[in-house]
Amino acid sequence: MDGRLQVFSGNGNRALAEEIARELNTTLGRALVSTFKNDETRIRLEENVRGGDVFVIQTLCEPVDHNIIELCFMIDALRRSSAGRITAVIPYYAYARQEKKTSGREPISAKVVAKFIESAGVDRVLVIDLHAPAIEGFFEVPVDHLRAGPLLSDYLRQMALKDMVIVSPDPGGVRRAAEFRSRLNASLAIIAKQRPEDDVVNTIDMVGDVQGKTAVIVDDMISTGGTLISAADMIMERGAKEVYACAVHGLFAGDALEQIGKSSLKSVIVTNSYPVAPNAEKLGIKVLSVAPIIAEAITRIHKDLSISVMFSK
Ligand code: R5P
Repeated sequence: MDGRLQVFSGNGNRALAEEIARELNTTLGRALVSTFKNDETRIRLEENVRGGDVFVIQTLCEPVDHNIIELCFMIDALRRSSAGRITAVIPYYAYARQEKKTSGREPISAKVVAKFIESAGVDRVLVIDLHAPAIEGFFEVPVDHLRAGPLLSDYLRQMALKDMVIVSPDPGGVRRAAEFRSRLNASLAIIAKQRPEDDVVNTIDMVGDVQGKTAVIVDDMISTGGTLISAADMIMERGAKEVYACAVHGLFAGDALEQIGKSSLKSVIVTNSYPVAPNAEKLGIKVLSVAPIIAEAITRIHKDLSISVMFSK
């Protein structure tokens, strides 16, 4: 791409966007990203983007719907200002768990969000660990899908935990857990869970041996923390020595941080794809930065280099 590289940010996770800009040896593009007094979103770009290779960083965190609109309006403003190419960088993609109907008369919300973003005029999308990779197919434009697994497993390797067993908290996460197992030379266990109602989790059973071992639960996201806490309880009941957890996206909805603090989890590792509360580290949450991998991906997209090579080791 010939145009100059420019990076803009919505208000979703400005701290991460600033870190990405620093990694790229640049600064965030100047833009007014605000609201009118009546709460309508107000966007005005304050620098020339004509012909530029523009990346807009927006985590779809709370307030979720507002941040989706901010992203769409920024894309529209860039398109109408003749940007050469527009890439939406979405470190956390909201509504990803609504990628299919689980019962009648429900929307496929993840697809609706993709359509919004695409209809605003985006040319490419860059995401990290989508809850369901099938969401890539909801876009007609190219989607580059980064993985934070290597970052998390490198950190776990440095912790040098003895006799490690990787635990998937549900059958849907087995592939991810198996990748951690082989990177860390650990054993594997799998939990079956059920959701009797929204945001409530019950563990049913576990396959695999955790007796006397250090268990690490691996998941893509933590929302209410219910999945982790009930998995950790089952793992400790089955005789594990201690239990840790790691996940890419730490949403920590409601009182999740407090509940995790009171649970049998020794420590939880997440990334900053989603803004984590400032007191999280005090409550035993370790936050790793995805800024270097996003910055590398942006550089590669700008230079038309391979992204998959970043994850081929
Ligand atoms: C479920 O399929 C996901 O991978 C996570 O396990 C789940 O979304 C976590 O949600 P919560 O923390 O509310 O249990």
